[in-house]
Amino acid sequence: MKVDGVPTRTIWLEPDGWAVRIIDQTRFPHRFETVRLETVEDAARAIRDMQVRGAPLIGATAAYGMCLAAYADPAEPWLTDCHELLLSTRPTAVNLRWALGEMMLTLRRHSLRDRTTAAYARAAALCDEDVEINRAIGRNGLALIAEIAAAKADGAPVNILTHCNAGWLATVDWGTATAPIYMAHDAGLNVHVWVDETRPRNQGAALTAWELGRHGVPHTVIPDNTGGHLMQHGLVDMVIVGTDRTTASGDVCNKIGTYLKALAAQDNGVPFYVALPSPTIDFTIADGLAEIPIEQRAPEEVTRITGRTASGRIETVTIVPEGSPAANYAFDVTPARLVTGLITERGVIRASREAIEETFGAARRE
Ligand code: MRU
Repeated sequence: MKVDGVPTRTIWLEPDGWAVRIIDQTRFPHRFETVRLETVEDAARAIRDMQVRGAPLIGATAAYGMCLAAYADPAEPWLTDCHELLLSTRPTAVNLRWALGEMMLTLRRHSLRDRTTAAYARAAALCDEDVEINRAIGRNGLALIAEIAAAKADGAPVNILTHCNAGWLATVDWGTATAPIYMAHDAGLNVHVWVDETRPRNQGAALTAWELGRHGVPHTVIPDNTGGHLMQHGLVDMVIVGTDRTTASGDVCNKIGTYLKALAAQDNGVPFYVALPSPTIDFTIADGLAEIPIEQRAPEEVTRITGRTASGRIETVTIVPEGSPAANYAFDVTPARLVTGLITERGVIRASREAIEETFGAARRE
């Protein structure tokens, strides 16, 4: 995507060829700032503090974290320690485990002398693969949007509801849930996006709205509890969300609140799609509710809120009575039965064990 006319990814190598630069997503939407990562600890901190977030970007950052580890020392036991450090940063998005697994395979296949170069090449390839996967998801999702647009006689907008940020900021580029939206908009289709603000960290209000606005996509930010009302009144044509981990049987884990949108969608006959890149499939588990670890974050993310004052100052204020406890579950699981379809890089498929196995089983065994 472009920032001020310049093609920009969310993560890239510095001109020195070894350090890594990321966009600091904790500053959005008020500031666009980048941060240089020089050590594996820097990469781990960036993931843990959510300077980078979103399942695919967490994976990409961890991959470059292993490059920084190898740059410092390509030998064991250091590499295994660094793998453990990065793996411990966030528990839910399975792309983290996947990307680290890919990097360890690469590192172990090469001699001490060649390891670091091989690691940087693999991390770059993982990033390029992410972009291509998202591009394919975009094309496949575009067909769904075009179908709905064609059924609207009057050229009225296709209203798409999305939750959290599964946009280009959550990936290396394009986004998963947003790729079909960007492609539909670029193709001249009339799309409008309902953007759930996504409390407590407001990834919808701060990140998705920023992205869509920059790209000129018409959108409206709504409080998280508005979607059901909009659906009851025929104001949502489809839902597209991302995912942090989808099980082998099609249960979808995504940002907290996704499940409630799926319930409302089913009650109102609104198609509920999940944009799913294959590295987000966890083939080792089938029961999302029982087996996916749900991250619990600091209660302060719920009890406080940060914003910009009229004078331009960034301020954090408390919004609950002193002493009231708060719970902060970061993700929930939407059972496969509530999912209309998975928009993958290999096509739109049912959220079922059979469809996932048929589409990706062979690739997994390669
Ligand atoms: O806590 P976050 O901001 O990392 O959560 C992100 C999401 O839930 C996204 O929807 C998901 O990672 C898909 S990103 C393409």
